[in-house]
Amino acid sequence: MRLVCFLTVVLLLGGCTQPEKSKPIPFKTTGDVKHTMQWVLDPAADHIWDSAGSVITAEGVEELAPTTDEGWLAVQHSAVVVAETGNLLLMPSRARDDQDWQEIALGLIDVGMRAAKAAEAKDADALFEVGGQLYRVCVSCHTQYMQGDEKRDPLTE
Ligand code: HEC
Repeated sequence: MRLVCFLTVVLLLGGCTQPEKSKPIPFKTTGDVKHTMQWVLDPAADHIWDSAGSVITAEGVEELAPTTDEGWLAVQHSAVVVAETGNLLLMPSRARDDQDWQEIALGLIDVGMRAAKAAEAKDADALFEVGGQLYRVCVSCHTQYMQGDEKRDPLTE
């Protein structure tokens, strides 16, 4: 009997010291998916594409890769914004499902981090290659999740 009482006390005490049920993580989004595209992802991705490869102008071929440390640092900044946007798209108010949307958003994080590495290494060829991969991530999500009138290619606008 004494043992039973002892055990009861231990169990009760155990109950008291259990960690509190974890609270949901608070967050406050600044806008929906469209807003995130327009104000966060698109400008950052454009910056990467505008910094990779070359364009042919009247004066000849112009290389787009940055030529200064600050220029490369700015591209690295945009690349990390692209990567982190994957997480923004995974947030409960923005994620459209927990299947392909999730896969593609996680892919955006990987490609963004690859672009950040290329910029850190000041590797113009690698940045160009990752730029192509990045474009494919955008298109794969838009093909599946943009609807009706919005189903245009915003990348060529
Ligand atoms: C995980 C899915 C997903 C990924 C990845 C994604 N988008 Fe989007 N994007 C959307 C959806 C959904 C819309 C339509 C949003 C709406 O109008 O409600 C959209 C819309 C847009 C728009 C139009 C915004 C407007 O003003 O109507 C632009 C521009 C855009 N995306 C750029 C990009 C670029 C650039 C990338 C890649 C670097 C990208 N998106 C990657 C889902 C995605």
